[in-house]
Amino acid sequence: MKKRLLGILLTVMMVISLIGCSSDKDTPTSTDTDATATKAAATTAPVATDAKDITVGVSMPTKSLERWNRDGAYLKAQFEALGYKVELTYSDDDSDQQVNDLQNLIAEGVNLLVVAAINGEALSTVLTDAKDQNIPVISYDRLIMNTDAISYYVSFDNYTVGKLQGQYIIDTLDLANAGDKKYNMECTAGDPADNNAGFFFNGAMDTLKTYIDNGTIVIPSGQKEFEKVATDKWKTENALNRMQNVLASYYADGTQLDIALCSNDSTALGVAQAIESDYAGTNQPLVTGQDGDVANLKNLLDGKQSMTVYKAVANEAVVTVALAKEILAGNKPDASLLDKFTCTAAYDTSSYDNGTGVIPSYLLVPDVVTKDNYKEILVDTGYYTVGDDGYLQAAQ
Ligand code: BGC
Repeated sequence: MKKRLLGILLTVMMVISLIGCSSDKDTPTSTDTDATATKAAATTAPVATDAKDITVGVSMPTKSLERWNRDGAYLKAQFEALGYKVELTYSDDDSDQQVNDLQNLIAEGVNLLVVAAINGEALSTVLTDAKDQNIPVISYDRLIMNTDAISYYVSFDNYTVGKLQGQYIIDTLDLANAGDKKYNMECTAGDPADNNAGFFFNGAMDTLKTYIDNGTIVIPSGQKEFEKVATDKWKTENALNRMQNVLASYYADGTQLDIALCSNDSTALGVAQAIESDYAGTNQPLVTGQDGDVANLKNLLDGKQSMTVYKAVANEAVVTVALAKEILAGNKPDASLLDKFTCTAAYDTSSYDNGTGVIPSYLLVPDVVTKDNYKEILVDTGYYTVGDDGYLQAAQ
């Protein structure tokens, strides 16, 4: 087990040195101060001055979805490269366990927390403890709701993820010139407990709205509200079961499904499996996704998934680590943090209100990956390599 972990870490360190953006615009230490940043409020004051005395607690949701393993490994490696210690926990997609894991990290006296919430609504009590102990909290990838213990949010532009999926459908089917032609679509969204899920779904549905309203896109099941198409815990199995039911109820007479709008790759995997037997061959529906999980990239090459919105999580870690370093140095980062790394990101102070006010956010830019450009975006950049079987694998 230790050997395996060491292997993953070494791989991640190598990958970091090969790819992604960097935070080397200056040479940081934990005691750096930034002339352009203002001093933080007392609640986010630094408690340690030397990198080796700093421990960062990283709380990830689950190991069972591919991306979070990458996030955890990248964050750990990059924090350790600065000399910090890292406590990394995974909570098995169980919200109570995440509360417990966070309680332990707080009790251990970590200096800063990076948290990707399982249930964005369930952490306000435990994070009040963090706040009481002056432990700054970065909300990672998913916004944590209803707590003022959050200093910042780092993510990709989640609404844009959905917009890219919608636009891909419009462009690929040339919906603007569809004339009388109609396309049948079914939607599969994410976990309602994840604040991102609504952004993805709304981004896609807002983009497709004109074509749904004018009847070019038809939804035979009639299920187009988020609550109806959501997938508990983002589970492949739940998406598979729901799509099987939809197909049995609305498509059994041979009605052709043309578009399966899926918010991410774990749901796309289930949907692709549900439609596989009916659509092997010529009339394969368009299937969207998000993340670039290895199993989905295989489906992409096999024609069972049409696109994925790729988010380079190595870069999400770069931004998070740069931000954490500034907070730990006692600064109050703002848009000028963008000068400290080479990733393309926006500083957003209007989009993400967690119920206690707008949380300042650093949002990275996602990419559309298809069969036509995957080499350029995933392989040439070093994120993936092509295995002997011709399929993509995480870079070694
Ligand atoms: C992430 C996605 C991921 C999903 C399921 C979301 O919060 O942004 O990248 O596919 O969770 O893990």
